[in-house]
Amino acid sequence: MSRRVRIPPVSAKETSVRFSQRAQRTCEQPIAFFMKQAVANPGLISLAAGLVDTESLPVEETREILRGLLSADGAARHALQYGTTDGYDRLRELAVAHVEALEGRPASDMSIDPSRVIVTTGSQQLLYIVSDILLDPGDIVLVGAPEYFVYMGTLESIGARVVGVPMDEQGIIPEALSDVLADLDRSGQLPLVKLLYYDSYYQNPSGVTSAPARRPEILEAVERWSRHGRIFILEDAAYRELCYEGTSPRSIRSYDRSGRTVILAQTFSKSFSPGLKTGYSILPEELVGPILQQKGNHDFGSCNFVQHLLAEAFATGRHAEHVGKLKRVYRAKLSAMLEALETAFASGSVPARWTRPQGGLYVWLVLPEEFDTRMKGPLFQRCIEKGVLYVPGEYCFPPETNASAADPLGGPRNTMRLTFGNLPAEKLREAIHRLADALESGPAAS
Ligand SMILES: Cc1ncc(COP(=O)(O)O)c(C=O)c1O
Repeated sequence: MSRRVRIPPVSAKETSVRFSQRAQRTCEQPIAFFMKQAVANPGLISLAAGLVDTESLPVEETREILRGLLSADGAARHALQYGTTDGYDRLRELAVAHVEALEGRPASDMSIDPSRVIVTTGSQQLLYIVSDILLDPGDIVLVGAPEYFVYMGTLESIGARVVGVPMDEQGIIPEALSDVLADLDRSGQLPLVKLLYYDSYYQNPSGVTSAPARRPEILEAVERWSRHGRIFILEDAAYRELCYEGTSPRSIRSYDRSGRTVILAQTFSKSFSPGLKTGYSILPEELVGPILQQKGNHDFGSCNFVQHLLAEAFATGRHAEHVGKLKRVYRAKLSAMLEALETAFASGSVPARWTRPQGGLYVWLVLPEEFDTRMKGPLFQRCIEKGVLYVPGEYCFPPETNASAADPLGGPRNTMRLTFGNLPAEKLREAIHRLADALESGPAAS
């Protein structure tokens, strides 16, 4: 005879949700706030939301590719079936050819082949998985100061410590990188350092590109300090194709001939369409298996259909054509923003300075020390009242940084990120005018 067990009633306290430590460390990404602000205040011109230009998205190109993809039943079924965890073979082969062309040297000279390529759901997924398989709470990741703030949020969620490396207008300073590593060594913390993350082209947020001569030096410094185990470089090349002046330099990965140290993250989000949310990476051999195993837990393969679409975009030359068009569109927007800054600040009383990027989507504004750009400061509020939004520099600096207002790229209190991607030239001019107007009232009493 079975006996019924009576379950006692539980109090509200006992039923409270017990979130994992990781969930408790995870905060809303600041960009969500800026996106919401822009939507909630239609009069506001947002220089904050990092959207690509809506008008030049590849609508016609995508339509044509889709027509072709769906015209033959067999190929269509292949694309509509599940794919593999590492990604569509043809896309991975074409990705190698694309990187080969970008680097201007044979893939075999750089130990690059399709077996080291993994397609992910945006490069963001790759950034997450790399961090997940390499880092335990308390491990140290070095990043540029400033650096891409969404990734710093990811690192915070994982529980990593994020330590800044000084930068100037030519990117991370190799000697300063060595000094940071030497300091960590002296305090016995070098064994905790596992990764240097670096957005090395037209950096989000500063617009700065790592100078060609510094690239092998950064690799050399990291390899030299890999005494307690390998320190990887996660080179994020999200904006690499968006070059408006000269040519983009070789990647740091291209100097890593055996491919043991550098993880190269690329994406279609900036060069084609973020709505397709697809990225690909070139990995050190030993990371391929562990990353695939973890990706198996995420989704056992990114959207197969989109990968077929993107393979066609590469193979038919539509991707290259589209990049050509984007360069023209963004070059004009960047010029409009730089000219507007020149006009607004040349005649005003605020000695602001800013970066002059040769590509990407961002300009970095550095104000005199007495200005406070932080979200809780008066300037941010005054800008909202004037109808303009920026990303305060405070979000772009890692928690452990010595960056100060007087540094070449300023510090967390006196800087801001301005985006020119998704606004027409006249709006960009108006936005800069409003910003300069807000700044003219002075540093404002805090
Ligand atoms: C520097 C950088 N890396 C990675 C990403 C992620 O892009 P996605 O996941 O769309 O490829 C972004 C997006 O803005 C970015 O700015």
